[in-house]
Amino acid sequence: MSHPGTLYTVGMGPGDPDLLTLKAARILRSSPVIAFFAKRGCTGHARCIADAHINKAVAELRFEYPFTTEIPHDDPQYRAAMDCFYDKSAESVATALDAGQDVALLCEGDPFFYGSAMYLFDRLGPSYRHKTIPGITGMSACWTSAGLPIAHGDDVLSILPGTLSADDLTERLRRTDAAVIMKVGRNLAKIRTSLAAAGLGERAVYVERGAMAGERIVALRDLTEPTAPYFSMILVPGRQGVR
Ligand SMILES: C[S@@+](CC[C@H](N)C(=O)[O-])C[C@H]1O[C@@H](n2cnc3c(N)ncnc32)[C@H](O)[C@@H]1O
Repeated sequence: MSHPGTLYTVGMGPGDPDLLTLKAARILRSSPVIAFFAKRGCTGHARCIADAHINKAVAELRFEYPFTTEIPHDDPQYRAAMDCFYDKSAESVATALDAGQDVALLCEGDPFFYGSAMYLFDRLGPSYRHKTIPGITGMSACWTSAGLPIAHGDDVLSILPGTLSADDLTERLRRTDAAVIMKVGRNLAKIRTSLAAAGLGERAVYVERGAMAGERIVALRDLTEPTAPYFSMILVPGRQGVR
């Protein structure tokens, strides 16, 4: 009987296929199976990045999210459906591993930084040999594209999900030197209000699709849309010029 394969959880970087590590590229080329998540009707962002690097004969495990629109994450129905989805996805990966195949599980940016791959890693990691390959995060690509050094010296950098309440966001923004606000989407108006209340609105920069086709960078004050797409974030640079 063959030994089980190894689960490689691979950081795919922010979007530009050139921003993949050499190690990630090597594992993609040598893996007989790749696994990835995708929204309904979409190829999947991580899969698109992989295109330039995979062996065309590779077997693909494509896991399509059960929802097309956002449902509040604290809705019990959402949690139950997602748990079931991740359980089934993990079973498919386990079948390939049990057959002795290595599996490269693709993840945008860095897998251990808000990465969706962690849901499978948590389920499979205790039972299978595994290795994780770090990736360049989306935020790193965004502040680089924006030409915005984010933190100097002893600046405190806070990474905040836009899903926090307005009061919580404002409080945390008041206590930081620099900030990255992720998961902007429908939280844009609330984030604007909190940034203004913390006195940071004028320093904030909006970055959409950092290091991807369609990249867009504007001062937050010049952004006119009421909501933002999934791949977007707001950056507040720290104490610039203090070195
Ligand atoms: C679930 S988190 C995944 C983070 C990812 N693992 C990473 O290392 O960047 C998704 C959020 O990351 C941000 N994001 C990730 N990549 C981005 C990019 N290239 N441009 C803009 N925002 C990005 C967005 O705020 C998005 O809502």
